[in-house]
Amino acid sequence: MRVAFLGPPGAGKGTQARELAREWGVPHVATGDLLREALAAATPLGLEAKRYMDQGALVPDEVIIGATAERLREADAARGFILDGFPRTVAQAEALARLLAEQGQKLDAVIFFEVFEPELLRRLTGRRVCRGCGATFHVTFAPPRSAGVCDRCGGELYQREDDSEATVLNRLQVFARQTAPLLDHYRRQRLLTTVRGEGSIESVRGEVREATGALQ
Ligand code: AP5
Ligand code: MG
Ligand code: ZN
Repeated sequence: MRVAFLGPPGAGKGTQARELAREWGVPHVATGDLLREALAAATPLGLEAKRYMDQGALVPDEVIIGATAERLREADAARGFILDGFPRTVAQAEALARLLAEQGQKLDAVIFFEVFEPELLRRLTGRRVCRGCGATFHVTFAPPRSAGVCDRCGGELYQREDDSEATVLNRLQVFARQTAPLLDHYRRQRLLTTVRGEGSIESVRGEVREATGALQ
C-alpha cells in the first residue's frame, strides 16, 4: 500500500492519514509534520524550512526531496506508507517515482481531497494541534472534550503559526500555482482518484477506504 494524499491546505489529509495509517499498519509520512519536528529540535533542516513555512511558501524541492527520501528509506516504510503533503510539485513527483523505482516499487494510488475555499478557510482558522502527540482538532467541527487539552494524551493544543488568515490565503495560492498541476500529472498516469472532501470526517474516511479498497 503506497499511497499519496493530495489536496489543498485544510483538505483533511492529516486527519484522514493519521487514522488510516493505523488501520492499514503503515507509517504516516507527513512532510509538514517532519519539518515542524525538525524546527522544534532546531536542526539545520528545521531552521532552513522555517523561512518558507512562515510565509506559506514551499520549501525548495532539493531540501524536501532529500528529507523525504531519507524517511522513506527507513525500515518501517518498506511495507508501504501514506504520504501526506508530498509530492507537492512535479519535480517532487518525478523524484519520488525515481526513488521508488530504485527499490523496485511504485506508487499505487494518489487520492485527491476536493474541498473548496470557503470550507478550507473555516477549517484552517479553527484548527488546533496537540503539542504532545500531533493530533488535530477543530474548535467547532472536531472539538476536544475540554477546551485547549488533547483528548488522546492530555497535551496542550496550539494554533499553527501558518494558520493565520493572511498566511492561509498565500498557501491556497501556492497550492493552485505549484501543486494543482500534479492533478493532471497523476491523471495521465491513471493513478488519481478524487474524493469529495466536504462531508463529515467519517464519511470522507469511508470514501477513501472505498477508493483504496482494491489495494488492501
Ligand atoms: P503541511 O503541514 O503539509 O500543510 P498543508 O498541506 O497546508 O496542509 P494542512 O496540514 O494545513 O491541511 P490538512 O489537509 O492536513 O488538514 P487537516 O487534516 O489538518 O505543510 C506546511 C508547510 O510545510 C508548507 O506550507 C510548506 O512550507 C512546507 N512543506 C510541507 N510539505 C512540503 C513539500 N512537499 N514541499 C515543499 N514544502 C513543503 O484538517 C484541517 C482542519 O479541518 C482540522 O482542524 C480538522 O479537524 C478539520 N477537518 C478535517 N476534516 C474535516 C471534515 N471532514 N469536516 C470538518 N472538519 C474537518
Ligand atoms: Mg496536515
Ligand atoms: Zn495529544
